[in-house]
Amino acid sequence: MRKNQIEEYLKSIIKEEGLLYDAMRYSLLGGGKRLRVQLAMMASAALGGKEEDALPYGAALECIHTYSLIHDDLPCMDDDDLRRGRPTLHKQFDEATAVLAGDGLLTLAFSIAARAPLSPQQNLAAVKVLSDSAGAYGMVEGQVLDMTLSGASEDEILEMYRYKTGALLCAAVSLGAIAAGGKGDELRTFAENLGVAFQIQDDILDIIGDEAILGKPVKSDQKNEKNTVVSIIGIEEAKKRVRLYTEKAIDSLAPFMPNAQALSALAESLIERKM
Ligand code: IPE
Ligand code: IPE
Ligand code: MG
Ligand code: MG
Ligand code: MG
Repeated sequence: MRKNQIEEYLKSIIKEEGLLYDAMRYSLLGGGKRLRVQLAMMASAALGGKEEDALPYGAALECIHTYSLIHDDLPCMDDDDLRRGRPTLHKQFDEATAVLAGDGLLTLAFSIAARAPLSPQQNLAAVKVLSDSAGAYGMVEGQVLDMTLSGASEDEILEMYRYKTGALLCAAVSLGAIAAGGKGDELRTFAENLGVAFQIQDDILDIIGDEAILGKPVKSDQKNEKNTVVSIIGIEEAKKRVRLYTEKAIDSLAPFMPNAQALSALAESLIERKM
């Protein structure tokens, strides 16, 4: 039900025909767990709002997330050929189209949030959250750290995860909070810890995942000689970290129960995810 709503909304965003729009649709509608949209919707409910109110903001964030994946896969970055079970955008189209489709999705996000059917104050707050979390003080800075860190400690790697992955998960719950009429930072501790757990699990799956289920190449991090938590402490310790940070995330939801039940269950389910 929630998943259908999300897919229908995403389908309604880009209607035009032509190279750019076909490329944007190829990546946006090509699968994906829609985790950030679900988090936004569940965060709204956790704070006493309606899930549906957070859908446009969550969809805007999904556009930004999709752009980040398109650029992350480019030859000048992780140089990967498979994403969401299909050829990456630069393989299916070409590099220039992939760069530009990413640019298109990024900027489209702000338009979607600015035009959402909530109050102008809420939409302004949402645009601010999206730009702060996506840009030079959030995900983009994390991607730079990912490329430049070498010989890093576990703490330094975790800090990089807080930017490259945590920032957009924090944005998801902030957007949900704003949609519910809240300030935006109510569920921050939850999202920060979930973000770290989520990226460590991503690094584990990069090594022991099944490409057919994962929908993206395994051993990408090794190929690129990336510093990951797994490369420092090994798989078994990394699995313990996933559980530890997920528990911290779930514990922080106590004041919001029972409305935060869906958020808690989603976090729990991610510990054993295979994709
Ligand atoms: C992949 O994110 C990139 C990371 C931040 C680890 P997801 O695992 O949420 O990717 P999709 O949206 O399901 O494809
Ligand atoms: C990237 O981390 C996160 C982004 C900000 C796009 P990864 O490079 O590990 O993500 P995957 O494994 O390619 O999805
Ligand atoms: Mg990367
Ligand atoms: Mg990558
Ligand atoms: Mg990865």
